Amino acid sequence: MSVSDEIFRRALSRLAAGVSIVSTGSTGNRRGVTATAVCSVSAGPPTILACVNTATGTCKMIQEKGLFAINLLAEHHKPVAEVFAGRGGLQGEDRFEHGDWIAGDLHDLPILGSALAALECRVDNMVEAGTHAVFFGVIESAYFAENPPLIFHDGRFHVLPMSAAAA
Ligand SMILES: Cc1cc2nc3c(=O)[nH]c(=O)nc-3n(C[C@H](O)[C@H](O)[C@H](O)COP(=O)(O)O)c2cc1C
Repeated sequence: MSVSDEIFRRALSRLAAGVSIVSTGSTGNRRGVTATAVCSVSAGPPTILACVNTATGTCKMIQEKGLFAINLLAEHHKPVAEVFAGRGGLQGEDRFEHGDWIAGDLHDLPILGSALAALECRVDNMVEAGTHAVFFGVIESAYFAENPPLIFHDGRFHVLPMSAAAA
C-alpha cells in the first residue's frame, strides 16, 4: 500500500531544494532538464546522484554517453530554469540558447559558465525507480562562480533572505 500521487506531491513540495540543470551531450547535440532531485552521495570517491525522468531525451542521452553535468543554479538563472523545465516549449539543443553555456574542458559537456558549481560526471551506476533513473556520477572536474542560489519550495522559485538583505 502507498499514498496517493497527490499526497506524495503535497509532502515533497515542502522540501526546499536547490535547483540544478542536469545536462549531457556535446557541442551541437546537447540535452538538459531542470532538476531538484540532485544529492551529494559520498566524498570518497566524490559522488553525486541525479534522478531523471526516463521519458526525457536527457535520460536517454546520459544512458548512451555515460556522462552528465550538474549545474547548480543562481538566483538570476530563474528564466533558464523555466526553459529547461519545458515551460515555453523549447526542446533539445534549442534550450541552450538561454544561459551562458560553454563546453567542459574534460568531456565537452554543457557547462553553465555562471553556475554556482558545475560538475562533469561519469556514470558509475544507474538504478531505475518508478518513472525515473537514478544516476550516480563520479565527479571528474568542477567549475565555480560566486552567486546566490536559486531555491524551489511549495511550487515556486525563491531567493534566500540573506541575498535580499545584501542587495
Ligand atoms: C523546480 C523543478 C524541478 C524539477 N526536478 C526534476 C527532477 O529532479 N528530475 C526530473 O526528471 N525532472 C524534474 N523536473 C521536470 C523537468 O525539468 C521537465 O520534465 C523536463 O524539462 C522535460 O524535459 P523534456 O521536454 O525533454 O521531456 C523539474 C521541474 C521543475 C520546474
